[in-house]
Amino acid sequence: MGWGWGTAVVNALTSMSPASQGTEEIFHLWMISIAIFGLIFLLVTGFVVYSLMKYRWREGEAEPEQVAGQLTVEIVWTVIPMAIVVLLFVLTVRTMAVADPGPAPAPDLIVTGHQWWWEVRYPKSGLVTANEIHIPTGVPFSVELDSADVLHEFWVAQLARKMTTVPGHPNHIWLEADTPGSYPGSCSEFCGTEHAWMRFTVIAQPPAEFAAWERAQLQPSVLPTEAGAVAGEQLFMQMSCVSCHAIGGTPAHARVGPDLTHLAGRIQIGSGVLDNSPDNLRNWLRNPQAVKPGVEMPNFQFTDQQVTVLADYLETLK
Ligand code: CUA
Repeated sequence: MGWGWGTAVVNALTSMSPASQGTEEIFHLWMISIAIFGLIFLLVTGFVVYSLMKYRWREGEAEPEQVAGQLTVEIVWTVIPMAIVVLLFVLTVRTMAVADPGPAPAPDLIVTGHQWWWEVRYPKSGLVTANEIHIPTGVPFSVELDSADVLHEFWVAQLARKMTTVPGHPNHIWLEADTPGSYPGSCSEFCGTEHAWMRFTVIAQPPAEFAAWERAQLQPSVLPTEAGAVAGEQLFMQMSCVSCHAIGGTPAHARVGPDLTHLAGRIQIGSGVLDNSPDNLRNWLRNPQAVKPGVEMPNFQFTDQQVTVLADYLETLK
């Protein structure tokens, strides 16, 4: 679908508009490095072109004087690159100190990469959600990064450096946004068929708004009353949906797939593969494999009637 290139371009562009102190430092280091490398490139190609022109063979001209060894030149071309490497080293260490300090004693957020979605836990409140990470603006969040299966890589270009998630070996980054907004994130390490559809969004909100969001998310789901949704809820609990998904306030507790307690409030489904609309939700339930080939959720061959009531129920999970 050409989305690989789309993601690459979006990442490249968004990484040029840093929205946290850490990414601003990384951006500056990048600009300084590009300037130095650009200058070296121009100097070297300039010298090569100049030498080609000046010393090219001409009819009747004698060979130029042959020189073997030149101490001054050798010292210059050793000292200057050394100085550049030392400069870049010092600047990099400085940037790392700002962009990548050590973790807090306890994480504010635990993000676990799964094939192919992100589990998001707030250990301090006990909240569990998926693929949408809310953070308060101006508050640095210490994030523990885990993987449930293979190597993934967590990257929100505008907010933080990228970091690999390694099964059995927690990694760490700091996540912070200076201004409210939505920041696109993606998995940036190939992790199987649906690597391209392992996206997420970081939503930065003013602290009071974030606190209200967290309180609302901690509420269990409200049992449906409308007939279709009631039938959908019963179907959900009878089918193997409950073997993988959790819905707060119901007997569904499994943690294999995304938590669905407040599914209807999310912007997208399938880790970014579709916008979260009733039509798209029905398409997904009808055959997830057609929407996101290779996804862990099988095609349950639901009838149209079953798809309708399941979607009606899931739409109540605000
Ligand atoms: Cu997960 Cu690529």
